Formats: sequence, C-alpha cells, structure tokens
Amino acid sequence: MNERKERSIEELLFENETLKAENEAARERIAALHAERDRIASREEKMRRRLARELHDGPAQLLSAIVMSAQFAKQILTRTPEKLDKLTTELEELELLATKAFHHVHTMLFNLRPVTLATHGLVPTLESYVERLRLADDFAVSLKIKDFSERLDVKAEVAIFSVVQEAVGNARKHAHASHLELGMAKQDGNLIVTIRDDGQGFDVARVDRSYDQCGSLGLLKMRERAEMLNGEFSIESAIGQGTLVKLIVPLQASDGTDSGKMEG
Ligand SMILES: Nc1ncnc2c1ncn2[C@@H]1O[C@H](COP(=O)(O)OP(=O)(O)O)[C@@H](O)[C@H]1O
Ligand SMILES: [Mg+2]
Repeated sequence: MNERKERSIEELLFENETLKAENEAARERIAALHAERDRIASREEKMRRRLARELHDGPAQLLSAIVMSAQFAKQILTRTPEKLDKLTTELEELELLATKAFHHVHTMLFNLRPVTLATHGLVPTLESYVERLRLADDFAVSLKIKDFSERLDVKAEVAIFSVVQEAVGNARKHAHASHLELGMAKQDGNLIVTIRDDGQGFDVARVDRSYDQCGSLGLLKMRERAEMLNGEFSIESAIGQGTLVKLIVPLQASDGTDSGKMEG
C-alpha cells in the first residue's frame, strides 16, 4: 500500500518535472516568436520610413512644383493673356513635371509589387523595370541579357529581382552615377547577374567593418538572398571607381536536381 503510494508520488514528481520542462520550452518558443514579430515590425517600420522619404523627395516635391506652375499659368492668363508663348512654355513645363511625377509613382508601385514577375518571369520584368528607371531617373540605364530566357522557381526569381532592386536602389541613392548597367547571362550552368554603376564608389571593407552600427540592411539582405539561392554574392568597389555588384546563382544543384529551375 505504502509502496504504491510512494511510486505514485514519484510518478507525480516526474510528471511535474516534465510539465515544468515543457512549460519552459513553450516559454522559449513564445519568446522566439515575440522576437520574430518585433523583427518584422521593425523591418516594416523601416520600409514605411523609406517609402515616406521617397514620396517626400520625389512625387511630393514634383506635385508642389506642379501647383506652382499651374498658379503661374493662371497668372499669365489673367494679367497678360496676350502672351501666348509664355503661357505655352509654362504649360509645357507643367506637363513635364506631371509626367515625371507619374513615372516616379509608377516606379514606386512597381518596386512594391512587380506583378510581371509572377506572370512573365525575370527577363520581361527586368526589361520593364529598366524602362521605368529610364523614365524616372537622369542617368543612362542599359540592360544586357545573354543566353537566358527561361523561367526559374518563382521564389528564386523574386530573390534575384530583389537583389537587383536593392543594388539599383543603392546606385540611385549613393552613387551619383551617370550610367547604370544591368546584366544577366548564363554561363557554365550559372546565372550571372550584374549591376554596375560608374558612380563615386565606396570602401566596401570599411562599410562592412562598421555595418553593425550603421543600421542599414541592404547589403545584408542581398547576401542573405544569395545564400538562400545557394549562390555567391560579391561587391567590387573603390572610392572614385564605381561599383559592381555580382550575384552568381547555380541553375543546377550539384546532385543533379534542378535548384533554381521551375518545378513541374
Ligand atoms: N552603388 C553604390 N555606390 C556608392 N556607395 C554605395 C553603393 N552601394 C552601397 N554603398 C554604400 O554602402 C552603404 C551600405 O549600403 P546598404 O546596406 O544598402 O545601406 P543603405 O542603402 O541603407 O545606406 C551605403 O550607405 C553606401 O555608403
Ligand atoms: Mg541600400
């Protein structure tokens, strides 16, 4: 009788310990989930701030110039309606500003959600991306595609395109380039993606050394995406030398299965 009681107490104690351990594990999982949620929230916050800055620097400024231009045109009409050439010039200026704002907004929308990526794949998406960049930016943009037209796994396409977007974003933001060249080529079973600008360049090793403190994620995100693709990522740059961002993605896994290729 006593023996049975003791055993059941032992069992209860054991069960208690197990429950405690499970409880602790659950607590850890919850903490990890919270950390993940905070990370996502902070990424979103960064993205919102970036969007706000881009809206402010681009379309918002253009719109305020458009308002001024319209007011000026109205003034001409009321004060010197005979000066038609002046009015025409002002209206042409207004049209130009509005067109620029339109293209800028379009580029932003495209950056947020490149629909063609899922429907048409990388090559057409890059083509229309480059078209938009040409309309929105002052520097020359060229696109060279060699021996590559196939579709890859959608996830791979999204990852590759976001590396391009990030690298192009950096060139637009930091390089002060006059020429930007995007390249995509198939070589020895790899897809080689390059983004080259002829801008001011930067000291890569120095940026890397203090990257933890700079609060940026761009370079890190590109490296993460390359890793996800089992690819290689590199940046060649030096002050005054422009920048070359290169992503090499294996199209076939070493075991012979398709890595990046679309399934089915
Ligand atoms: N194409 C480029 N031309 C000049 N500087 C660059 C270029 N790309 C990156 N950089 C430098 O590397 C830094 C880190 O880039 P990134 O991680 O994307 O951060 P962010 O763009 O948010 O500043 C940039 O702040 C900039 O100084
Ligand atoms: Mg960046």
